[in-house]
Amino acid sequence: MRPVPSLFKAGVRRLDPGTSPAIFQPNAFPGRKPGMPTVSVTRRVHFNAAHRLHNPAYPEDWNARVYGVCANPNYHGHNYELDLTVTGAVDPETGYVLDINVLKRLAEEKLLAHLDHRNLNLDVPHFREVIPTAENIAIYCWEILRAALPPALALRLRLWETPRNYVDFEGH
Ligand code: NI
Repeated sequence: MRPVPSLFKAGVRRLDPGTSPAIFQPNAFPGRKPGMPTVSVTRRVHFNAAHRLHNPAYPEDWNARVYGVCANPNYHGHNYELDLTVTGAVDPETGYVLDINVLKRLAEEKLLAHLDHRNLNLDVPHFREVIPTAENIAIYCWEILRAALPPALALRLRLWETPRNYVDFEGH
């Protein structure tokens, strides 16, 4: 079981839903209005990339213990699948939350052009400083795509590193 959030431990009472901070409203996002039907649309995109998990602040034996074969110095590859989910109101003019081709094009231009067939550690400047775990790749992709989407739409993403392992991120 997950630990109780510290706000509750500290005795802070849950606020009225109309005034609660977003932390208490799992469906809250900037463009949401009460009673408005919202829909989530998802585009799945794909990229191949190589990486290595290694923290240069620690010795090799620490890295080998923490990351196992993922720390191998000559890198290894993954077939990443990235599910991009946008949530918002249905535009009465178009019937769309967002034209999914717009989402596809944004993903290609903003993400895949820099990630696909790359060595993440060497080719993507962000990952010279940040360890390219699935968690950190998901955050990186979210930050870039978030900045490119209309503020009224919520964004969450799911990054599949293997067919059995995925991470979810929906902002912070
Ligand atoms: Ni890996």
